[in-house]
Amino acid sequence: MCGIVGAVSQRDVEGILLEGLRRLEYRGYDSAGLATLNGEGNIHRAREVGKVAALADALAAQPSPGTIGIAHTRWATHGEPSQSNAHPHMSGERLAIVHNGIIENYQELRDQLRAEGYQFTSQTDTEVVAHLIEKFYRTEQDLFKAVTAAIGQLRGAYALAVLHADEPDRLVVCREGSPLVIGVGIGENFIASDQLALLPVTDRFMVLEEGDIADIRRDQISILDRNGEPAERDVNRFEHGQDAADKGEYRHFMLKEIHEQPAVIKTTMEGRLTDSHVLEQALGTEAGKLLEDVRHVQIIACGTSYHAGMVARYWIEELAGVPCSVEVASEFRYRKHVIQKDTLFLCISQSGETADTLAALRQAKKSGFRAALAVCNVPGSSLVRESDLVIMTHAGPEIGVASTKAFTTQLTALLIFTLALARHNGLTEEKEVEIVQALRQVPGQVAEVLALDADIQQLSEAFVDKNHSLFLGRGSQYPVALEGALRLKEISYIHAEAYPAGELKHGPLALVDSEMPVVTVAPNNDLVEKLKSNLEEVRARGGELFVFADREANVKTEDGIHVMQIPPVHPITAPIVYTVPLQLLSYHVAVLKGTDVDQPRNLAKSVTVE
Ligand code: G6P
Repeated sequence: MCGIVGAVSQRDVEGILLEGLRRLEYRGYDSAGLATLNGEGNIHRAREVGKVAALADALAAQPSPGTIGIAHTRWATHGEPSQSNAHPHMSGERLAIVHNGIIENYQELRDQLRAEGYQFTSQTDTEVVAHLIEKFYRTEQDLFKAVTAAIGQLRGAYALAVLHADEPDRLVVCREGSPLVIGVGIGENFIASDQLALLPVTDRFMVLEEGDIADIRRDQISILDRNGEPAERDVNRFEHGQDAADKGEYRHFMLKEIHEQPAVIKTTMEGRLTDSHVLEQALGTEAGKLLEDVRHVQIIACGTSYHAGMVARYWIEELAGVPCSVEVASEFRYRKHVIQKDTLFLCISQSGETADTLAALRQAKKSGFRAALAVCNVPGSSLVRESDLVIMTHAGPEIGVASTKAFTTQLTALLIFTLALARHNGLTEEKEVEIVQALRQVPGQVAEVLALDADIQQLSEAFVDKNHSLFLGRGSQYPVALEGALRLKEISYIHAEAYPAGELKHGPLALVDSEMPVVTVAPNNDLVEKLKSNLEEVRARGGELFVFADREANVKTEDGIHVMQIPPVHPITAPIVYTVPLQLLSYHVAVLKGTDVDQPRNLAKSVTVE
């Protein structure tokens, strides 16, 4: 999704802006651009289709020196990826703007501005905003006032950063529905859509609230809230190490993040578990009272987070005996639903900025749910700020578009939540102790699975020349199969479908032949015997099976069956551990196929538009 970086400094900012864009590459984009104000008081703009490296080459040929500037990576929404549609957009020669989000009434504004004589050189909604601000600048003669007046006419979601050649010492920025942070420096200040973009220059951040508009100068930041009142926003330190956004010794961010899992799962548990119990207070001072009242749980999420929600449903119903529904946010927000009394609304999101999830939350807050709980990885994100109760996953920044550690830490947080809820709903102390102890073993078990890396890499060779694949799981392993299939299709572009194994003979069996590898997760739970008969059904049709099975499940490698033995795991925590070999499998297949592992085509890390 689009990324914004900006800087007001005494030093040359071109390098800072380019590095910021590089650090936002992981979010997905199709073109990049930058505008700076040079010493002669003119705006210099460079824009290129493709990677930030292409923009860097263009700037190497024709540098853009200046102490103030804005930059952008664009993910096309209005108009194809092209140089003329890339940001920054300008109105005349004196005003430049970058924008994330979507302006819903842009057509109407465009017609109006065109009638007033403004010329358009792109198909974007952003150029409309540039002209609108320019129009108000003519009367206001002040950039802050012009931006304030212009946003009064906008409908939609946006984060904007605006630069005017006649006001060479300030950037004006605002947000409504799209994230924007201010990076606080010494004698210089920065802005970005994501803190990671600014880590080389600062670790102190101010998160703007919805409706805020800010005047950013080298030595001063002033903010007005949506009512035009002066507002103070806290400055917080970035809590993860500076190396969070570096690949370190790894070839790809995805591989680094897969290997971080034992450590981050431990962090998710920190302060929330004793050796034998869940510390309910760690979920918030209000948590106990709230969980006592909850009679239903409604989970909402998108993508990988949705799969985490599907696993949580098995846990919540099995351990807490509380009915639970799970729905993708984009569906939930557009249908009528019956809300049972005392239903907890639970949003799961890595980024906390997914447009559909936020829209569902905002709708839910008006519709009579008992409370809204967020499971999220990004502190200060919109989801975190707008929910009543929050469980942070503490996975640290996840850069690879394919989600790995975000998913397993979401599962860990959701299991801790389930135990707290179950305690109010008849879970025996003995069972709580058993599951907490099982959870404590998960980091070690994940590390054991990571040690199988070389074997899984070998297995991956069987997938490289295939066009289709099938993933099977039963019970809480069905969402794990869904997640495994999503991983493979996202990064290797091999068509992958997942089914609950019991559904095999209701359709997908028709597809099975020697060209269709079938991947199965088989922990040693009470469904393993049934799963074994499903495997026989595949084998009888000439299908090649790849089975990740518990050492004790008695599934053996033989003709047509490749078995990868996984250490014994408690059935409740098995979905966390069994996710990991599937991550490694998809990673190695993608590497062998030579795809862009960290930035798969057409996908974005965080989908902040509908
Ligand atoms: C995008 C990402 C996925 C992610 C989904 C939901 O599609 O590529 O990895 O699972 O959005 O994102 P969220 O940040 O809400 O978990």
